[in-house]
Amino acid sequence: MSALANSVPHIRDMTEADLGRVMAIESSIYTHPWTRGNFLDSIKAGYCCEVMEVGGEVVAYGVLVIAAGEAHVLNISVARPWQRRGYGRTLLLRFIDQSRHAGALQMLLEVRQSNEGGRGLYASMGFRRMAVRPGYYPAVHGREDAILMGLDL
Ligand SMILES: CC(C)(COP(=O)(O)OP(=O)(O)OC[C@H]1O[C@@H](n2cnc3c(N)ncnc32)[C@H](O)[C@@H]1OP(=O)(O)O)[C@@H](O)C(=O)NCCC(=O)NCCS
Repeated sequence: MSALANSVPHIRDMTEADLGRVMAIESSIYTHPWTRGNFLDSIKAGYCCEVMEVGGEVVAYGVLVIAAGEAHVLNISVARPWQRRGYGRTLLLRFIDQSRHAGALQMLLEVRQSNEGGRGLYASMGFRRMAVRPGYYPAVHGREDAILMGLDL
């Protein structure tokens, strides 16, 4: 395989075997990471759980649930050394495609008020601020508000 082909991101379903690597990334980028059980429950519940590999290494992943015409992004994460290379956007575009195919009319997600990277990504893709959910997230000191953002599909 050429070096170029090797650097093309490949997205596939997340399996239980990925959870070691997924948890290593998750705990290195969040102050309050999901647990292994959160990912396992999402896989078992049949949510859309995907990983992105580059050169055979998992560098990003996400979890999406689609129900009643609404798609909800529950998790979207890129390993720190791989951030700001377009992988988060690629994964979100894939989720948008899948949601449209499934007939969803709207995509929703919550993001921490302080998360400039996340908010920047969503705003760059046309998500709009819909509401504030006060104290939605645990924080290092107390709680932090979530911004509910939405995209019409
Ligand atoms: C937020 C996150 C998913 C973005 O993924 P990424 O691969 O790093 O971002 P991309 O390279 O796809 O960026 C796409 C656009 O989003 C915006 N963006 C991404 N990171 C940003 C940052 N740190 N600050 C401001 N805008 C940012 C920019 O508009 C960017 O386009 P540009 O690079 O052409 O300016 C990733 O940084 C991440 O996993 N962060 C830690 C976990 C997290 O916060 N997840 C989201 C929880 S809601």
